[in-house]
Amino acid sequence: MKNLIEKTIEYVKVFFENDFSGHDFYHTLRVYNLAKFIANNEECDVELVCLSALLHDVDDYKLVGKEKERFSNLNTFLKDQKYSNERIEQICNIVAQVSFRGKNTIPDTIEGKIVQDADRLDAIGAIGIGRAFAYGGSHKRLMHNPNVKPKEIVSSKEYYENVGTTINHFYEKLLNLKDFMNTETAKNIANHRHKYMEEFLKEFYDEWEGKI
Ligand code: ADP
Ligand code: NI
Repeated sequence: MKNLIEKTIEYVKVFFENDFSGHDFYHTLRVYNLAKFIANNEECDVELVCLSALLHDVDDYKLVGKEKERFSNLNTFLKDQKYSNERIEQICNIVAQVSFRGKNTIPDTIEGKIVQDADRLDAIGAIGIGRAFAYGGSHKRLMHNPNVKPKEIVSSKEYYENVGTTINHFYEKLLNLKDFMNTETAKNIANHRHKYMEEFLKEFYDEWEGKI
């Protein structure tokens, strides 16, 4: 008999099979592993953390559209597994508070804080750089244009309507994330990944300006 976590991993693997938007199965798997690692250093409900991490993107409105009932994929899957309504509701609340959406919101549970940290850690460092350029390319954006300055983004509407360059995304989001980490474990990982992005940007500008 497979346990619920194993079944959930199988479910998201199939769910994200044809997704190349930056929310692929491996993003989910990395968030799950990071969340589990952080959870080991915190007083928390590890099962809630693991299930929320694995299911955090299955109802993302970019993937399923706004018109669908909120959290319908998550609800359908967990109800099929005979998971309790009370725990499903807790997971919906955690997932609802995780996303960045252009502004910082602090989850009101430790489980939410952990999953949010894990999702944000996967947007920075070497993986974060890779994801940003993959996203930019798939949205037909320029990597960099020195004449286009980064914007100050304060609402989710501005975040989603922004069509700026990928380099500007670093200033509009990625370089801010380390200061938004909730847990000490995530802060430490974020500091390392942040430095790596700063080094990357320095090299990028050197090469851009033809410094040899
Ligand atoms: P999340 O689901 O974690 O809230 P998003 O759906 O906003 O994140 O973004 C998914 C990935 O695409 C992240 O790695 C993010 O940094 C990247 N991304 C989002 N918007 C842009 C953009 N305008 N330019 C480049 N990368 C972006
Ligand atoms: Ni995510």
